[in-house]
Formats: sequence, C-alpha cells, structure tokens
Amino acid sequence: MKILVTGGAGYIGSHTTVELLNNNYEVVILDNFSNSRKEVLENIKKITAKDFKFYEGDMIDKKLLRKIFSENQIDAVIDFAAFKAVGESVEKPIEYYTNNVSTVLSLLSVMKEFNCKKLVFSSSATVYGNPEVIPITEECKTGNTTNPYGTSKLFVEQILKDVYTSDNDFGISILRYFNPIGAHESGLIGEVPTGIPANIMPYISKVATKELEILSVFGDDYDTKDGTGVRDYIHVVDLAIGHIKALEKLNKENKGLFIYNLGTGVGYSVFDLIKTFEKVNNVKINYKVVERRKGDIATCYSDPQKAQKELGFTAKRNLEDMCKSAWNFEKKYHDEHK
Ligand code: NAD
Ligand code: UD1
Repeated sequence: MKILVTGGAGYIGSHTTVELLNNNYEVVILDNFSNSRKEVLENIKKITAKDFKFYEGDMIDKKLLRKIFSENQIDAVIDFAAFKAVGESVEKPIEYYTNNVSTVLSLLSVMKEFNCKKLVFSSSATVYGNPEVIPITEECKTGNTTNPYGTSKLFVEQILKDVYTSDNDFGISILRYFNPIGAHESGLIGEVPTGIPANIMPYISKVATKELEILSVFGDDYDTKDGTGVRDYIHVVDLAIGHIKALEKLNKENKGLFIYNLGTGVGYSVFDLIKTFEKVNNVKINYKVVERRKGDIATCYSDPQKAQKELGFTAKRNLEDMCKSAWNFEKKYHDEHK
C-alpha cells in the first residue's frame, strides 16, 4: 500500500514514516521544510534501511499535488503538514489559516480528482478548549478554542465532516493528539523547535544542555496534586504506531468518519516531568516557579478507551522512556549542531 505523508520530515511525520516503512508500507513524502531539515530524510533511511520517494514543495500547490498523484498510485494520505506554534498563530492568523486550512482544501480536491479517499488527519486535544470533564472522551464538546492554531484544527475537522457527508465513500480518521514528547530510540530523529521552545519537554532538554538557563514553571497553585499543570504526555513512537492502527482500521472498514483521542489516559504534573527527567538521565534541571501562563488549564488528559477498543491501540511507553529518549536525541543533536 502506498501512503502519501505530508509533512513527513517533521517531528511526528518522521516517526510515523519510520513505523510505516517498518510495516512494509510504501511511502511518498511531501514537505516544504518550513519547519524541518533535509537531514531528517537521510536519518529515516538510516533507521529503517528502506527508501521512499520525496517531493519538495507546498501542499497548497495543486499542480504539485496532481504531479504526485499522477506519478504514484497513492492509496491513502496521512496529513501532518501544518504550522503548530500557538503563540505565533495569534500574531499571524492569516498565515496559520492559509497553511492549516487552505492546504487541506487543495489536498482534498486533488484526492477527489484522483479518487483517493482515505485520509488520516492530525488534530489536537486543543479542539476541546477548556474541557468540561476529565478524562476527555471523544464525545466531549469541542469549540471555545483560544487561538487561531486551535481554531484551524477545529475548522478542518468540520470540513472533513462535511466532505464525508457529501461523499460517503471517503474513509477519514481524525486523530486528536494529547501531548507528544520523546524521540526515536536511535536518537536520529526527534523534536527540533525553532527559536525558544514554547512546549515543556524541548525546554527542559535545552536547560539540561545548558543552552537555556532555567525552566519557568508556569504556576504551582493549580488544583492538582502538587499545584502544577497536569497533562497526558504520549511517547511520539506510540503516537506514530497509532497512525498505523488508524490506517488499518480505514482499510478494514473502507469508508466512514472516525475520531480518536491518542493519549495514555494518565496525567503527569510539571514536577513529575522534571523529577523523572532528572532521575532517568542523571542531570539537574534548574527551575523557578513563576505566574501561570495565560490560557493554560489545570488538568488535561484523555480517556483512551475508544482507540483501545476500535483500533487496538494502547500506548506502551512510560514517562521514563519519554524522558530518556528525549534526552538521548537532544544530546546527540546538540553535539552535532553546536
Ligand atoms: P512539525 O512542524 O515538526 O511538522 C510539520 C511538517 O510539515 C514540517 O516538516 C513542515 O516543514 C511541514 N509543512 C508545514 N507546512 C507545509 C506545507 N504547506 N507544505 C508542505 N509541508 C509543510 O510538527 P509536528 O509536531 O510533527 O506536527 C505534525 C502535525 O500534528 C501538525 O498538523 C500539528 O498541528 C499536529 N499536532 C502536533 C502536536 C504536537 O505537540 N507536536 C500536537 C497536536 C497536533
Ligand atoms: C500545548 C498547546 C496545545 C497543543 C499541545 C500539544 C499551548 C497554549 N497549547 O499544550 O495547543 O495541542 O501543546 O503540543 O501552547 N509549562 C511550564 N513551563 C514551560 C512550558 C510549559 O511550566 O516553559 C507547563 C504548562 O503550563 C503546562 C505543561 O507544562 O502545564 C505543558 O505545556 P506545553 O508543553 O506547552 O503543552 P500544553 O500547554 O498542554
């Protein structure tokens, strides 16, 4: 089976490509390197000892998409290509809606032209806004997103529902990721944020390499076990495997619109993360507690049962694995790029 992976050079796309190749799928990647590096492609080949086709360009470009679909018999698409920085999306809403929504419209229209009707889409737990109940099930209300990034995911989810309503031959799987962290065990691929990281794990990693001086813990007065924010961290390799399961389900059912949370169902606090990172990696993380970050919520974790039941997906890697692999990648990357 031939899969088009858009954004395949990125953090989650690269790990998913590794799992696809290891499971004997053929892969075609489209990426414009707006948030990734060419060396990732070589590293995927090193890890898997397998090859894949690559096209450099922008997913908004229908001419390029037509070229890809006419040169390759694509059976399904996994779409990772998007911008993902929440803060930046507030500054640049037009760029975010263009890159996260208009690109999907280009993709869907060319998929239809070529009668390719299977799609796995990267959504986010951010579509639940400030969740009404914890753990969050797929039935929980979506909306009340607080930034253009989150709203762009909500818009695409609605577009996909409308496309499915108009054409029941589509098989669409919307995956709502919780907090992906960690890296491939080889240390060859991982998360490389541009500029100062906004998310916690890359920040911790850069405090560990001493590139950054100190971690600011955003609030210790939440109504949680130790006062710091609680999240559902999921190992990126588990998340990647979730995509294989979603593809298998689409192949089995052929048609339908499916929505799944991809998380572990377990919440860890910021202090849990810092302590585990220090323990398993034998490093010290300097931190100070500061004011809460605007827009943050106290607790967010998934009810993962639907994915367990319908996809047979259970995240297997624990917080220690996440912290070890993140540090293994960061050290290697830091040494090679300083
Ligand atoms: P990433 O930035 O590492 O990967 C995205 C890739 O897409 C990059 O390689 C980038 O160069 C490419 N790209 C972006 N726009 C493109 C375009 N118009 N045409 C071609 N290529 C383009 O991000 P990621 O963390 O791997 O996230 C992948 C997807 O998962 C995104 O849709 C993101 O919104 C979603 N997501 C990520 C997280 C997370 O915490 N990382 C959480 C929830 C959802
Ligand atoms: C962020 C995004 C969300 C996205 C998710 C997964 C925001 C507001 N939301 O969620 O849209 O779906 O990532 O990628 O950015 N923290 C610190 N110090 C830091 C950074 C974070 O204490 O320097 C805390 C936060 O307060 C939070 C936890 O760490 O409690 C996790 O934060 P982060 O990694 O940014 O993820 P989310 O805010 O959950």
